[in-house]
Amino acid sequence: MTTRDYLASLFSLEGRTAVVTGGSSGIGRGIATALALAGAHTVLLARGAERLDEVAGVLRERGCTIETVVADLGTRDDIHAAADDIVAVAGEPDILVNSAGINLRPHMDRIDEEIWDITMTVNLEAPFLLGQRLAPGMAERGFGRLIHVSSQQAHRSFVDSGAYGVSKGALESLARSQSEAWSARGVTANTLVPGFVLTPLNQRLQDDAGKVAALAARTTVGRNGVPEDFAGAAVFLASAASGYVTGHSLFVNGGFSVH
Ligand SMILES: NC(=O)c1ccc[n+]([C@@H]2O[C@H](COP(=O)([O-])OP(=O)(O)OC[C@H]3O[C@@H](n4cnc5c(N)ncnc54)[C@H](OP(=O)(O)O)[C@@H]3O)[C@@H](O)[C@H]2O)c1
Repeated sequence: MTTRDYLASLFSLEGRTAVVTGGSSGIGRGIATALALAGAHTVLLARGAERLDEVAGVLRERGCTIETVVADLGTRDDIHAAADDIVAVAGEPDILVNSAGINLRPHMDRIDEEIWDITMTVNLEAPFLLGQRLAPGMAERGFGRLIHVSSQQAHRSFVDSGAYGVSKGALESLARSQSEAWSARGVTANTLVPGFVLTPLNQRLQDDAGKVAALAARTTVGRNGVPEDFAGAAVFLASAASGYVTGHSLFVNGGFSVH
């Protein structure tokens, strides 16, 4: 066996179909790019058609097979419709990455039911409902990968964790429950845990150069994250190589959590 064939047997995603919610921006875009370049037929899902088309165009130019689904994961009905649209454009997927997320960051004093509901719906219910719709088929076919994107705020509270931290803590528990349910039939469920990553999500924090530098100093690597930092971990968790890794939270944070 050549080195190339050996690496392909572990990590190639050729013949797989992947869905990346939030695949039009930030960490989701970084992950979608990695999965698509590793060979997966990749579906990008988000609300904004323009950004989806732009990312899809860039990836198609690099030889990737890409579909897009315009969907809002902000209501249950729309999440169910999104699942139907995913299957309509690409068939039943093998890999589901839940990267779409919102972080509204109000102080706990100002968190009302509306903020609570939308945070839980996008960050937690969408991964749950998409898993309910797509994972049983993966289990039937004997291979599946559920990959969630949580946060340091699943593990500790800082910069107004509020409802967001709760949603991310529950998301890691969801991965463990999904692991219990489906891993014996080839479907793993894991979580990627970012540190502070320079994306549009936290633009407001990035406007404060002092805060950005302080967050970089919290890591042991000495810098904040970029979406490309998730490429290797995402391909690993999506591939055959990680078949015995499940229910795990993988910190991709430059040492933020150990410093
Ligand atoms: N950046 C960080 O430092 C950091 C740290 C820890 C965890 N995370 C987590 O990483 C994930 C990705 O964050 P990011 O920083 O990459 O953010 P981002 O650049 O703002 O990307 C968010 C993505 O989610 C999509 N999205 C947002 N709301 C949606 C909705 N209601 N329905 C469908 N799609 C929606 C956005 O597209 P549209 O707006 O077009 O819908 C976009 O593609 C999130 O789950 C976030 O909580 C980020």
